[in-house]
Amino acid sequence: MTRNERVMLVAVIATAACLLAKLSYPLPTEFDLGPFAFWVGVTLISSFAPVNLPGGVLAYLNTAPLLAALFDSSLVNPFAVCWVAFFGTFGLRDFRREVPWYGTLYNRANWVLATYVGWVALFITGPWVKAGDPYASFAQILIVGAAFALTNNLLSVLAASIRTRSPFAKVWAVSVRQVAIGLVGQVPMGWLMAQIAITVGYWATLPFLVPLLLARYTFTKYAETRDLFFGTVSALSQAIDAKDGFTRGHADRVSRIAGAIAREMGIGEAEIERIELAGLLHDIGKIGVEDRILMKPMRLDADEQELMRRHPIYGASILEPSAALRPLVQMVLHHHENFDGSGYPEGLRGEGIPLGSRIIIVADAYEAMTSDRIYRKAIGHERALDQLNKYKGIQFDPKIVRSLEQLLAKRGPDAFEVSELPPINYETLAELRRRLAREPLVRDAHAG
Ligand SMILES: [Fe+2]
Repeated sequence: MTRNERVMLVAVIATAACLLAKLSYPLPTEFDLGPFAFWVGVTLISSFAPVNLPGGVLAYLNTAPLLAALFDSSLVNPFAVCWVAFFGTFGLRDFRREVPWYGTLYNRANWVLATYVGWVALFITGPWVKAGDPYASFAQILIVGAAFALTNNLLSVLAASIRTRSPFAKVWAVSVRQVAIGLVGQVPMGWLMAQIAITVGYWATLPFLVPLLLARYTFTKYAETRDLFFGTVSALSQAIDAKDGFTRGHADRVSRIAGAIAREMGIGEAEIERIELAGLLHDIGKIGVEDRILMKPMRLDADEQELMRRHPIYGASILEPSAALRPLVQMVLHHHENFDGSGYPEGLRGEGIPLGSRIIIVADAYEAMTSDRIYRKAIGHERALDQLNKYKGIQFDPKIVRSLEQLLAKRGPDAFEVSELPPINYETLAELRRRLAREPLVRDAHAG
């Protein structure tokens, strides 16, 4: 943790501690323990096992019971609801010591502060809401829910982005935004739970736990599906690396460099994610190129070059049928287009080339020049940048080369360390190449 991060952590915890102390002294006289204990219990049930979302943020389903306690007029608020937020949000991982003690404190502080901000919103909007005015009540519920959810999510994403060393915007995009609709759904539910508790009885709110647990199931499925998708794409990209004879992790590194360039250029997170995926899969079409061409250790002749140049088209056709991968088709199809129009397959030029493709070609070239290959050593960071500069405006978009330079000036030449994946057995691959050079594979008759 850096000094600034420690200061931030201490500031959040200290603010919440001061707030709780201020609310609890002097103790409110008409405090009723029954409803307080009830909301602590219900919140504990819904907090116990949060869902791990991509990006390192945890999705809790305790928004509804916490807001129910907030809207419950029989509680002495904000005193009671802030303590409900403190006691009710402990989870299994806190008891199992899966979270460091300061993480447990930070999380408690987060809930207490978010709940208090929600109460402030309720307090401010209170005088405007007349009894029996549904529109004003509805607006009030939305404002209170938004104030609560915004504070809570900001503090959660801040912590997750520090913990996972990922940019704030990225964590926000892959986690909170995806489940925002689900969270918003819990806000009116919280209000309704409070009304039912007051008019019918506290016991009548218990059936609400069923949709909450169902929502937990949906979040889990979302997280699993996303993991499965990225895991499969990553495995596929490693398979392409292996077939291509590249160092393992080539595509992974291209993807990370391309993503970082895109972020440096201020592109939105959803598009960055597509560019990263296209970076992983840009050479997938090489599956359709014969091994004797792909692995030929000497220069390709004109016919072989022509066949090799088809791989972006093969790649596009492989991705096209999948709805999830279709947005990458154009980027993959044009990742060998040169800025001056001399590339392939369509000879597009300048801004006519999709932005993602212009980024990937720079990332691909930089990666190739700065990592060792079986037949040559890396030429190094400085010379790689010289080459990119030499060919900007010809092969590369000058704007993107400049962004990469700025990025590397900030993060240093080691910013994109070679992948941590275990290396492919180079010896076997080298032997295979030598053997292929000696005795080229005879293709099956049906393969032509
Ligand atoms: Fe390629």
